[in-house]
Amino acid sequence: MCGIVGYIGHRNAYDVVINGLKRLEYRGYDSAGIALYDGEALKVCKTKGKVVHLEKKVQESITSNGSIGIGHTRWATHGEPNDVNSHPHLSNSGNLAIIHNGIIENYDALRKELKKRGYTFQSDTDTEVLVNLIEDVIKNEGVKLGKAVQIALNQTVGAYAIAVFDKRKPDEIVVARLGSPLAIGIGDNEYFIASDASPFIAYTNNAIYLEDGEMAVVRQGKEVKVRKILNDSEVDAYVHELQLNLEQIEKGGYDHFMLKEIYEQPNAIRDTYRGRLLADKGIIKMAGVDDNLDRIAKANRILIVGCGTSWHAGLVAEYIFEDMARIPVEVEYASEFRYRNPVITENDVVIAISQSGETADTMAAIKLAKEKGAFVFGVCNVVGSSISRETMAGAYTHAGPEIGVASTKAFTTQITVLTLMALKLGKYKGTISNSDFRLHLQALEAIPKKVAKLLQSDKVIKEIAATYKDARNCIYLGRGYNFPVALEGALKLKEISYIHAEGYPAAEMKHGPIALIDEEMPVVVIAVRKGHYEKVVSNIQEIKSRKGKIISVVTEGDVEVKELADHVIEIPETIEALTPLLTTIPLQLLSYHIAVLLGKNVDQPRNLAKSVTVE
Ligand code: F6R
Repeated sequence: MCGIVGYIGHRNAYDVVINGLKRLEYRGYDSAGIALYDGEALKVCKTKGKVVHLEKKVQESITSNGSIGIGHTRWATHGEPNDVNSHPHLSNSGNLAIIHNGIIENYDALRKELKKRGYTFQSDTDTEVLVNLIEDVIKNEGVKLGKAVQIALNQTVGAYAIAVFDKRKPDEIVVARLGSPLAIGIGDNEYFIASDASPFIAYTNNAIYLEDGEMAVVRQGKEVKVRKILNDSEVDAYVHELQLNLEQIEKGGYDHFMLKEIYEQPNAIRDTYRGRLLADKGIIKMAGVDDNLDRIAKANRILIVGCGTSWHAGLVAEYIFEDMARIPVEVEYASEFRYRNPVITENDVVIAISQSGETADTMAAIKLAKEKGAFVFGVCNVVGSSISRETMAGAYTHAGPEIGVASTKAFTTQITVLTLMALKLGKYKGTISNSDFRLHLQALEAIPKKVAKLLQSDKVIKEIAATYKDARNCIYLGRGYNFPVALEGALKLKEISYIHAEGYPAAEMKHGPIALIDEEMPVVVIAVRKGHYEKVVSNIQEIKSRKGKIISVVTEGDVEVKELADHVIEIPETIEALTPLLTTIPLQLLSYHIAVLLGKNVDQPRNLAKSVTVE
């Protein structure tokens, strides 16, 4: 949700900032802008559209560069995406330039107050209000930029990651965060600022991640000092050594990040269970669970919170936890949970799932659950992310960076972590037999190879995509463990191809959605030979007799569904609880190919952003 980049040092700031913006574009791509100080003047260039449009405009409008600059790629909150509302924003004097990711909720009141004091505004944004508020503090209180930022932020309500500099003092950038991520890359006599480490990983492996409520004055040639915004107290900032490498954040020969990430799943799943699943010894080691085993196993219930795809992974986990560990599970959208005054006790365990580890609603749900005394466990992909720090224990998915806006490998690796956790709890509680436990371990260990095999059906899936690319609607059906996969399949299709799609439990069809079926309606049915197979076959017959087009995901060697369906995609055999790890793959590929055939921007679908740091 907006990407911010800044640089101060000895390089050409334009190059660092523009390349950084390209890496962060997954966070928002409505508009982009850059501000550079070239030693004489503050140059600003911004435009509606993507970073490539900005690049073109910069070439026409900025000729000289300097070694301090900030840039922004926007996902609009206040004000439509246009050139004026794009960041950076300047203060009325033209001295201060700011970039901001987040929302200043009381911006209207602050704006009215500033207007009374003679300030004028070009844009509709909350950010322009903030930069003028900072300017006002400098003017009235005669303080330096760092102090002014602090005073101004203490008057705001909302969320932010900001970077601001003053052209009269072009050797420092002031940064602050509350609710939106901000990392400071530490180079050799140079500093990088970014929403995540990807813009500066080519230059340095050392970074400080600001915590909520912290700020820093980043000054060339000086050590970074981190302080609390609220009371100015100094904080001992931890310098992280990053494990990320450049290759992981590039496309590596694939046409899109999404395709690369779909194909990475065999390795990603393996990386998720590596060192945790010891099939030969018949054990699962998970530090975050091991250290709290009794507390989690004795939970009255497990509440799972997340959004979007992560919520779908939570729904799969509901089946697994109840099956294996016999603990009652409730799964809830984080956005509903946080505002519902939920009944939570100290005996509850809350599992928060988030790929990015930055989703605002999930973060708020965690804080609420902690306040009410629950034990909160995080399942995140991004190491060091806000959610991974806010939770009391957790397990990383180790999927590697997911850059395509549509989640793919995050989903399968979240399910892998949650499966390991459920098995471990089941074993501890004795709710799963030793033989079943071992069977599941072996089956899970075999999943990556099966995913790799399944990826070979890509050609068949591409042909199916060509047949249905012009459909206006699509229905996805599944039962049991594969009901959430139907929801996820529908979400993938709608978000990248803009085709309306809905997922249902197959048996719900006759309670309404069946009215939609006619010869125009493609219905994707997950009908693996496990669980409720016969019942799903009946559901397929009901669709068939209403002339719906059936695309079925079946188990290798299936004959019954093959006779009924218009198209079949076969998945390798596995045990029921693990089928979502396989059935998801063809649905990801189907959406991908349809979107590509329709000429959509697969990696950056309209109106979306990768990490939703506003509610
Ligand atoms: C869909 C998608 C989103 C995210 C959701 C939660 O493909 O990517 O629905 O799953 O925004 O994001 P995280 O997992 O980062 O909390």
